[in-house]
Amino acid sequence: MSDLSRLILDRIRDVPDYPQPGVMFKDITPLLADPGAFAAVTDELAGLHEVDKIVGIEARGFILGAPAAYKARAGFVPVRKKGKLPAETFEASYDLEYGSAVVEVHRDAFAPDDRVLIVDDVLATGGTARATVELVRRTGAEVVAVAVLMELAFLKGRERLDGVKVHPLVVV
Ligand code: PRP
Repeated sequence: MSDLSRLILDRIRDVPDYPQPGVMFKDITPLLADPGAFAAVTDELAGLHEVDKIVGIEARGFILGAPAAYKARAGFVPVRKKGKLPAETFEASYDLEYGSAVVEVHRDAFAPDDRVLIVDDVLATGGTARATVELVRRTGAEVVAVAVLMELAFLKGRERLDGVKVHPLVVV
């Protein structure tokens, strides 16, 4: 295991039965609170690909994606839960590990030839990331890859992403 993987794993807290019984929640707040670990994760995400924009998926994808965009000198674009973006949007629905939801992106968030990296904290069933890939593509921009702090491989989310490159910093 790489030093970065160890750094991350040691700072993710498993919280059982949150937000509902039977779900093991991956709490990244200890990682975020550690200056060295947060910087190492940000640097890694920023260096993965040359892109024009980084998309952060609400809410924890914002925390990781925004500093990575700053570091990479890329623009930052939020993908938000339905009803939170003020201008015209595209929307896509998806099923979660627990419940279902709709995400949106501003229709004019990207230039047509923009290369885009999507960032989130966890890839679980892949529904959220899949919907976000769909949103970016509907704007006409190019999805270069999806980067996540942690991939929960047993949920096979990667298989729902139809061959989009996935960069997990840690796989469990
Ligand atoms: C979590 C996580 C990912 C998504 C992964 O977000 O941050 O975005 O679920 O699950 P999936 O691969 O099964 O789609 P959540 O929906 O809990 O939203 P939040 O970050 O706003 O709390």
